[in-house]
Amino acid sequence: MNHFSNKLIKWFEMNKRNLPWRNTDDPYLIWISEVMLQQTQAVTVIPYYERFIKALPTVYDLANVEDDTLYKLWEGLGYYSRAKNLKETALTIVEKYQGKIPSTYQDLIKLKGIGDYTASAILSIAFEKLTVAVDGNVLRVMSRYLGIKEDINLPETKNYIKLYLSDLIDHPTRSFTEGLIELGATLCSKTKPNCLGCPIKENCFAYNNSVTDLIPYKSKAKDKKEIIMQTFILKDLKGRLLLKRQTETLLNGLYLYPQVNSENLNYAIDELDSMGIQVLNIHKTKSYKHVFTHLVWHMDVHFGLCEVNSGEYVLVEEQSLHLYPMASAHKKIKK
Ligand code: ADE
Repeated sequence: MNHFSNKLIKWFEMNKRNLPWRNTDDPYLIWISEVMLQQTQAVTVIPYYERFIKALPTVYDLANVEDDTLYKLWEGLGYYSRAKNLKETALTIVEKYQGKIPSTYQDLIKLKGIGDYTASAILSIAFEKLTVAVDGNVLRVMSRYLGIKEDINLPETKNYIKLYLSDLIDHPTRSFTEGLIELGATLCSKTKPNCLGCPIKENCFAYNNSVTDLIPYKSKAKDKKEIIMQTFILKDLKGRLLLKRQTETLLNGLYLYPQVNSENLNYAIDELDSMGIQVLNIHKTKSYKHVFTHLVWHMDVHFGLCEVNSGEYVLVEEQSLHLYPMASAHKKIKK
């Protein structure tokens, strides 16, 4: 074993956090955990992961789950297309692969929601294949280690790091892969890395040259798009709340209060009217902000009464609201 893997794997075995997906080599569970971890930190993922695998312990359970149950399990994690893709892929695995998670890169990469990183992570963590998995943590660790001065988001940078690591990766691949991720998630943090405890600091360019605050280098990200919304929390005359189930990709399958993309309340009320909702009164307005990865919603939230002549909406008793998977942006709106 080379010096790098030896140091890394030993450090990982001594220092790893006890995360629930580390106690299994079931490829189904590794897949679920890696998809949850794609955009979410490990500490946040833990309770969601535990609840999810208790409700859906096998790929067959996931393939047969009702959409509402699935979205309820996912509620709060965000990026709901991940949940939608999980179910679609579970169906493919049941139909095409007899319920077994594929163990080759070519088969995994064809599945919905599984990209280069996730395919590689499943192969090295669940199947102990000599495969390098490079996520944001690994990019940070390796760009510092190698002193890479190019933009960390360029595909060339990632390819270079993959190539470099493919010479170093050693068995057990699981500890190698998880060790690099763990190093990035704990000691080699974005700001104020804790270099003294690092197992590979002796040969780390950024440590030796005191430039951990300059690497990884990122060219300035584009500003987020800001959208102003008029959002309506309306009750009908029987006191039921008006919701709409989303069908567009960003929040597919989730319920939202009706809202109109505009700065102008009167325009928004006219828009609702043309969709079969008559706003009878508004008795309160508050402002909320919700930040997505590429987008910010500024919502003027109006509370009031309405009449509904449209089948496109659902009317929900307030005490049943918790049964409907709501978009986080709207879930946090309180009276
Ligand atoms: N982030 C991505 N994969 C991870 C893993 N297996 N453990 C902890 N954090 C991760």
